[in-house]
Amino acid sequence: MVRILATDGIESSAAKALTDLGFEVVQQFYNENELPARAAEYDVVVVRSATKIRKPVIDEAAKAGKLKLIIRGGVGIDNIDAEYAKEKGIDVQNTPKASSASVAELVMAHMFSLARFIYDANVTMRAGKWEKKRYEGIELSGKTLGLIGMGRIGRCIANMATGIGMKVIYTDITGHLPINEPHAFVTQDELLARADFISMHVPATDKPIITVETISKMKNGVYLINTARAALLDIEAVLTALDSGKITAIALDVFNEEPIKDTRISTHPKISMTPHIGAATAEAQLRIGEDIVQIISEKFKS
Ligand SMILES: NC(=O)c1ccc[n+]([C@@H]2O[C@H](COP(=O)([O-])OP(=O)(O)OC[C@H]3O[C@@H](n4cnc5c(N)ncnc54)[C@H](O)[C@@H]3O)[C@@H](O)[C@H]2O)c1
Repeated sequence: MVRILATDGIESSAAKALTDLGFEVVQQFYNENELPARAAEYDVVVVRSATKIRKPVIDEAAKAGKLKLIIRGGVGIDNIDAEYAKEKGIDVQNTPKASSASVAELVMAHMFSLARFIYDANVTMRAGKWEKKRYEGIELSGKTLGLIGMGRIGRCIANMATGIGMKVIYTDITGHLPINEPHAFVTQDELLARADFISMHVPATDKPIITVETISKMKNGVYLINTARAALLDIEAVLTALDSGKITAIALDVFNEEPIKDTRISTHPKISMTPHIGAATAEAQLRIGEDIVQIISEKFKS
């Protein structure tokens, strides 16, 4: 019997579907020390973002020769040494499409939150204050949204933002999208100079994209949203720009350390925050589960 280990949980409908198909599903989290020996006992390991599959896990599994497939339920596979696993003959797959709409909606929620101080008004009202004058916001309609990265999530946001009257410009390493794409491709420098809101939608990079230099090219009073990866921002540069007013406010769903320990960020009055919940919707989790079932059935079809 094909054995599947799900270390960070798996949607119950997916666990049931896999069991009905004759797979054995074990849901159990293991810490870094336990994981290498345990993962080696399974044909498939399914993780989300909490479990890290690094070289020791892959070495142990390759030695035992049972593990054939690692699945990341989600998009970013930076918690898996994927190239190394593939070198050792272990396939690595993810579920890239399942959560795009959910992440896009979270970005829209953060933009509304930033524009109308919702993140801050919630905090001050809980403290018994009524600071009506402090919260004169702006409309999103008519503003320019600059998307860095126009992949699955970027495109979803572009359509939503257009629907509420924003102008969308984007930059992407692959250049402009097909001719019928309604949104305007610009260089990164042009995007930085023109956008009122900038949102990040690229995979993690070795060097941050948002730095002292790129911030200096932005409009004064710009808003910044990062739901992609924390490494994309030089957070020290961003904090300095928040304090100087160069950046009005930012929204973050991803952090260098999760759970976040840096209280300069977690207590900052100009940051709208969520604890890495981009894909945390019932619909996305259902789709992630369906994709996992499909990947496993495909891999082990007899
Ligand atoms: N917060 C969350 O819970 C959550 C959930 C899902 C995805 N994400 C993150 O969102 C990001 C985007 O996901 P996606 O599904 O849209 O990915 P995608 O691969 O569909 O799109 C990424 C786009 O970025 C472009 N790109 C890559 N490097 C670039 C660079 N240096 N400069 C400009 N463009 C670049 C690519 O050409 C591509 O078009 C990923 O980092 C992913 O990890 C976060």
